[in-house]
Amino acid sequence: MKRKLIIAIDGPSGAGKSTLSQLLARRLDYININTGAMYRAVALAASRAGIASDDCQALEALCRCIRIEFHRDNGVERVWLDGEDVSEAIRTPQMSLLTSAVAACAEVRQAMVGLQRQMGAQGGVVLEGRDIGSVVFPQAEVKFYLEASAEARGKRRYDELTANGLEVDLQQTIDEVKARDSADSAREHAPLLRPEDAVGIDSTTMSIEEVLTQMLAVIEQRINDGQEA
Ligand code: DC
Repeated sequence: MKRKLIIAIDGPSGAGKSTLSQLLARRLDYININTGAMYRAVALAASRAGIASDDCQALEALCRCIRIEFHRDNGVERVWLDGEDVSEAIRTPQMSLLTSAVAACAEVRQAMVGLQRQMGAQGGVVLEGRDIGSVVFPQAEVKFYLEASAEARGKRRYDELTANGLEVDLQQTIDEVKARDSADSAREHAPLLRPEDAVGIDSTTMSIEEVLTQMLAVIEQRINDGQEA
């Protein structure tokens, strides 16, 4: 039987992490964990409860009493918060900015990292985020660092939001992507960084299929290496 690996995908927003981790998970019959969606669910719960994004104590208490789950619906990953499907509600530009602030809180990170480790403990899992290979699963057998130019990432986000019927401005979306990158990279706790042992892929001019093929080749190689060892 093939080994069930832990696959970590890190990188800035809009680099293609969500799409590729879903495709990889489907191809390998693994579980897919979108950790950004978990931080987004916390941010949504905080905004509904009227908790400020810098009130780490209140956020910590909130994390203890909310329930975040992933369910697959017709092959598509959906995020549930306390029994409600919040997959769309967590994706607005306002929620993106709020999430970046909430995710800077050490107590929130501790709670989410604990959950992520539980969800991935058995292996056979693809996790995507900012600190998977560096903090959550430093022992992951395969680590990718996916990036692309800020313009390409902003354009992808813009296409995604407009496809969902939101009216947004392209330049403003690019600027927001850049602002979020700086906040995620400059924060004190678990900032976005490229693990030394990660395979770097720049997807600026690549199609999703090209990136997927490259990733599958790396994974296949690791599975074979493990079987020979
Ligand atoms: O991947 P995303 O855009 O859905 O992530 C939303 C925010 O959550 C982003 O600002 C960074 C933060 N995040 C994080 O700090 N750590 C993770 N593992 C995943 C996301």
